[in-house]
Amino acid sequence: MKIQIINGPNLNLLGKREPEVYGSKSFEDYLNELSAAFPQHEIFYFQSNSEGEIIDKIHEVGFDVDGIVLNAGAFTHTSLAIADAIASISSPVVEVHISNVHAREACRHHTFMAKNCLGVISGFGLESYRLAIQGLAVAKR
Ligand code: DQA
Repeated sequence: MKIQIINGPNLNLLGKREPEVYGSKSFEDYLNELSAAFPQHEIFYFQSNSEGEIIDKIHEVGFDVDGIVLNAGAFTHTSLAIADAIASISSPVVEVHISNVHAREACRHHTFMAKNCLGVISGFGLESYRLAIQGLAVAKR
């Protein structure tokens, strides 16, 4: 399967950013582990702090890849535009969060994305991404 991972704002700082919440590993290091764990899949990675760039990437890959793993960061809780982009494409999208957003502030409980996604995985640290890929593979069977 061709899988596109998209990380949103502030996720370029994983490893340095609030390690008590998001852990101390950089996403680049985790991505190497993930690619090694799934040699049968082609995994592509994109990160942006800009809402428009995330929407452009969803449009670019969303009729081609077998699945998108999207951590939209704080845009999850604010962006109707990203939610509309997800609704506009044919590739299935899994929403992921490193932290358990439902165990955090109330403003993080609402997601604009979820209703347009195949599923949501939240709270398993970086392993949320691995579970999302497994979910896409199960759904494809
Ligand atoms: C996050 C949770 C969001 O609420 C937050 O704004 C993030 C990261 C997560 O992966 O846990 O930036 O999406």
